[in-house]
Amino acid sequence: MIYTATEKHIQLAAKRIQEGGLVVFPTETVYGLGANAFDENATRKIFEVKKRPVDNPLIVHIASANEIGIVAWVPDDVQNDLLFKRLFSFWPGPLTLVLPVKSSVPSVVTGGKDSVAVRVPRHPIALALLKAAEVPIAAPSANISSRISATTAAHVEETLGNNVDMILDGGPCEVGVESTILSLLEWPPRILRPGGVSAERISKLLDVPCSLPDSEALDEISKNILAPGMLKEHYAPKTRMIFRSSLDRSKIPERVGLLSFGSSYGPLNDIPYRTKMVLSETGNLYEVANRLFSALYEMDKLRLDLILVDECEEAGIGRAIMDRLRRAVAKFV
Ligand code: TXA
Ligand code: MG
Repeated sequence: MIYTATEKHIQLAAKRIQEGGLVVFPTETVYGLGANAFDENATRKIFEVKKRPVDNPLIVHIASANEIGIVAWVPDDVQNDLLFKRLFSFWPGPLTLVLPVKSSVPSVVTGGKDSVAVRVPRHPIALALLKAAEVPIAAPSANISSRISATTAAHVEETLGNNVDMILDGGPCEVGVESTILSLLEWPPRILRPGGVSAERISKLLDVPCSLPDSEALDEISKNILAPGMLKEHYAPKTRMIFRSSLDRSKIPERVGLLSFGSSYGPLNDIPYRTKMVLSETGNLYEVANRLFSALYEMDKLRLDLILVDECEEAGIGRAIMDRLRRAVAKFV
């Protein structure tokens, strides 16, 4: 059931977490399906509800960078460590760090790995919940495994509503695509998933070019389940979806939907679209990211024959947008 995120409901949600329940909460990226990260049974339920493969580890959310040592091995004086000082400047925010895991974290959460993914979210409701719960919260995106991530409470309710204890409504998520995942298990650090913080910003701040997966490396990451969210087919709608540039114009089906990034990305009337969603009037890619998943989710309900989607340059937030879309169309090409 959906609860407006009042102080009272946040306290109630924190209590549910402490009791071993499942609470969906908003973050600045996407909604998360949360449980007490230290509770083995509770975190196991996340996998069941999401139908998530058990070897796909969860992200652990903490209330502040000061808590990182509870779940991960970091230098003793981490707040004065130059590297971590720089990394923490992105927190609270959409950056997830992969670090060696401490034994406090049950192996269900890490999918049996010896590392843990951890982040401090920027959303005030997420932060209030983490503070009130007084435990780290393990939370993957609040969607059925391999389908579209949810950026509104209503979309969570439609897919997971019957299987969770509470959904805290914080309105639509600001960023709209998931956090950037940065592995510190190697040097230079490797970006396992492009996301809300751009690779360019991270590389600049760390003063070292972080490696980014090219398509070959992506295959490798998928196979080794380095970061299984990196599976080649993910974020998929039920309706067939392809990039607009791959449309075979000799075979245009009857009911076509267009997910446009704005008129500068391509004509809006080149074929008789049954429905059109323009994600940004001005072609602003932050706006595109912000609306992408919810527009795709809505368009998927319209019983179309085909969805055409625009492409953008792979730089900044465009890298995360293209990463999600390539996986979303993968099963249709
Ligand atoms: O923005 C986000 O990151 C959202 C919000 C809710 O925080 N969460 C999210 O979680 O996207 P999820 O489960 O959908 O994606 C988590 C990704 C998966 O691809 C998983 O493989 C990767 O994080 N991951 C988790 N632990 C890892 C680890 N120890 N090593 C490498 N990748 C890891
Ligand atoms: Mg996910």
